[in-house]
Amino acid sequence: MNESLQTDPGKSTMNAVEPLSSGKPVGPCALVIFGAGGDLTKRKLIPALYNLVREGLLSDDFAVIGFARQAIGDDGYRAKLEADMREFATSELTPAQWGWLKERVYYCQADFGEADAFQKLAAVLARVEKERSTRGNALFYMATAPEFFGEVIGKLSAAGLTQETDGRWRRVIVEKPFGRDYESARLLNAELRRLLDERQIYRIDHYLGKETVQNLMVFRFANGIFEPIWNRRYVDHVQITVAETVGVETRGDYYDKSGALRDMVPNHIFQLISLVAMEPPISFEADAVRDEQTKVLRAMQPMSPEEVLHRTVRGQYGDGQSGAKKVVAYRSTPKVRPDSRTETYVAMKLNIDNWRWTGVPFYLRVGKAMAKRYTEIAITFKRPPFTLFRDTPVDKLTPNQLIIKVQPNEGISLVFGAKMPGATVRLGGVQMDFKYADHFGTTPSTGYERLLYDAMAGDATLFQRADMVEAAWKVVAPMLDVWQSLPPRSFPNYAAGSAGPKEADELLSKDNRSWRPVD
Ligand code: BG6
Repeated sequence: MNESLQTDPGKSTMNAVEPLSSGKPVGPCALVIFGAGGDLTKRKLIPALYNLVREGLLSDDFAVIGFARQAIGDDGYRAKLEADMREFATSELTPAQWGWLKERVYYCQADFGEADAFQKLAAVLARVEKERSTRGNALFYMATAPEFFGEVIGKLSAAGLTQETDGRWRRVIVEKPFGRDYESARLLNAELRRLLDERQIYRIDHYLGKETVQNLMVFRFANGIFEPIWNRRYVDHVQITVAETVGVETRGDYYDKSGALRDMVPNHIFQLISLVAMEPPISFEADAVRDEQTKVLRAMQPMSPEEVLHRTVRGQYGDGQSGAKKVVAYRSTPKVRPDSRTETYVAMKLNIDNWRWTGVPFYLRVGKAMAKRYTEIAITFKRPPFTLFRDTPVDKLTPNQLIIKVQPNEGISLVFGAKMPGATVRLGGVQMDFKYADHFGTTPSTGYERLLYDAMAGDATLFQRADMVEAAWKVVAPMLDVWQSLPPRSFPNYAAGSAGPKEADELLSKDNRSWRPVD
C-alpha cells in the first residue's frame, strides 16, 4: 500500500492510493445470474457491470448469462436490460460502452425446478465459452429468493457445473440473507460445504462494497496516529447509527418475516463493528483479515435473557411524515399483518470482551422510516483527566469525537473544543471535516462494482466466511429467542419520520450518555 496518502484537494489525487486489488481487468469469465428478472439484477448488478466496463475492468473475454423463466431469448433480454439501464444506470449510457456489454449478454430460459434446466445452462455456458473465449470460468450469482439458494447450488453441483476441471474456476456468490437464525445458517453452510470448497463460496454483504467501509481499514492501519488511542484507555464508547427514511414499501412479504434485527444487524452492522474493533491483521490476505473480524464477533458475548431485556430496544413505526411525504404505519403496509409484531427499529448495547475493548460499550441503532437517511460510526473519546476549566462556564466540555460518515456525504470528521474569540474563556465544539467528494471527486457507484470485480478476481477479503456468519447469528440468537417469547406490547412506538422510540434514549441515559441527534 502506498504510504503517502495525498489529500491536497488542489492536486490530482485520484491515484494517490493504490487500490487493494490491482486495478487491472479481470481474467476471462462468464457471470451467470439466477434471478435475472429480479430487482437486484436491474437495480444493482447490471449497472455495476456497466460501471466496470467504463473503468476498463472487465476482460474482453467476458459474458453475462441471465437465467430466468420468462420466454424472451437473448435479444429480448438485451432489450429489457437496456430499458432497465435507462432507469437505473448510475453513469452515462454511451452507445460504445453499453454496446460492448450488451453484445456479451446471453439468456438461458429455464426453470430450475425442471429436470433439464441445468443441461440447458451447460449448453449456454459451452456456447459462450466458444463465442466469448471465457475459458470455462464461471461465477454463479444467487440473486433468487433465499429459500432457493441450497436447491440451485445442489443442482449446479449435480450437473457437474461447479467442478473445477482443466484449469477452469467455478465460484458461487450467495446473497443475503444467509439463513434466518444460527441453526439455519449452520445448515446452509454445511450444505454448501458438502457441495463446494469454501474457497469457491462468496457470501456477499453489500456494506463491504461501500467506499467508506473499505476505507476503515486504510484509515486505521495506513495511519500511525489513530491506532495508539483506539482502545479502552481512550475511547469512552462507540455509536453506530443506520437510519433510513424509507419505510418497508413493497417488501412487506419478506420484511414481516424478517424484521430489522435479522435484516441489518448480524450482517451489515456487525461488518461495521468488526472493522472498527478488529486487531491489525498480519496482512491484507483474505483469511488474515477475516480471522481478525471473526475474533471480534466471537468476543461479543451472547446476552443472557435478563440482559436482552435491559440492553435491547425494539420499535415499530406508526403513521407519520417524512419531509413533505406522508408515511403510513408499518401495519398498513401491503403484505404486512395488521397486528404485526415485527420490529422496524432496533437499538442495543453490546460489549466486546477482549483486551482492547472491555468496558467500552458499542451502542447501535437501526431503523426504517426515520427522520433522516444516514449511516455513521461515532467514536467518543474520554474527557481529559483533569478539567482545567472546572470553575468557568465551560466545565461541561464537549468530548472529542471521531465521526466516520458511511453515507451519504462520505467522509470523516473530528470534533474538538476550541476557544471562542473574546476576553472570557468560552469554548465551542468545532469540527475538522474530510469529505470524499472534495478530495477524490465522486465515482458513480452502486456499491457492487468492487465486490463483483473481486469475486471474478478470486479475492474473498470482502466476503463473509462460514465461521463469521455463524458467530454473528450466535450473538443475536438470545435476542431472537427472548423477543419471540415476549411479544412487544407497545407497538407502534415511534412515529414515522421521528428519531425512533423513546426507550432507545433511555438505553443511553441509564449510562449517563445520549445518542448523537438524528437531524
Ligand atoms: C438491505 C436490507 O440489505 O440493506 C434493506 O435488506 C436495507 O432493508 C438495505 O434497506 C440498506 O442498504 P443501503 O445500502 O441503502 O444502506
